Amino acid sequence: MRGKLVAGNWKMNGSLASVRELIDGINRGMDTIQSAGVAVCPPAVYIPEVAARIGGGRLALGAQNIGDQDGGAFTGEIAGSMLRDFGCRYAVVGHSERRSIYAESDQLVARRFAAARRAGLVPILCVGELLEEREQGFTEAVVGRQLDAVIELEGIAGFADAVVAYEPVWAIGTGRTASPDQAQEVHAFIRRKLADMDAGIADRLIIQYGGSVKGANAAELFSMQDIDGGLIGGASLDAGEFLAICKAAD
Ligand code: PGA
Repeated sequence: MRGKLVAGNWKMNGSLASVRELIDGINRGMDTIQSAGVAVCPPAVYIPEVAARIGGGRLALGAQNIGDQDGGAFTGEIAGSMLRDFGCRYAVVGHSERRSIYAESDQLVARRFAAARRAGLVPILCVGELLEEREQGFTEAVVGRQLDAVIELEGIAGFADAVVAYEPVWAIGTGRTASPDQAQEVHAFIRRKLADMDAGIADRLIIQYGGSVKGANAAELFSMQDIDGGLIGGASLDAGEFLAICKAAD
């Protein structure tokens, strides 16, 4: 049976001092979490600091993005091997802020996904539709297209060691969460689409929900059949709130 995974996406927030306080607070609460997987994705420069503070515990470390190449003249990018050097296990790829603000294409996101796997990292592939796409009935077409770009490059086998995060763009940072039924519908679509190619891989795939998850709404979302935890933005910046979400997944 697949487990649950809660990952905190800290985005471009914090300072050295606040990062220390946040990670120490999460660390202190980790012994109350029994079975759920928990990861944090700090801004890249703080990865070594966070790695040192979590030691070899159960808390896993992830990056918010990853270079699509393995090294060389790619200014501003960070290679998977470098993230591995500092203990990362996960790399988020295709977050909607990367796709929309920085114009990352489905193909670039797929290459980042492939780079993560080459480096032995688990990609967390974010997919999700804009509000106008949902209103026009294009949700499945958009999410399907985002998945297809990865399938084209990596095949269905690429999803054997990966996580998918369904994040409706209209729910990110807006306080407007998808209802458990709305989210479940898209999660089931994702799993069905992949199951058409490999039922075993689809069944084992962790599909997180992301978009305004809080301590107060997490349990209801995570109780849905195809929702296997969450990718948490704003609420992951508060240790108590983040731990409450982890407990809901437990
Ligand atoms: P949010 O962000 O929880 O602040 O809505 C989620 C995300 O962007 O991963």
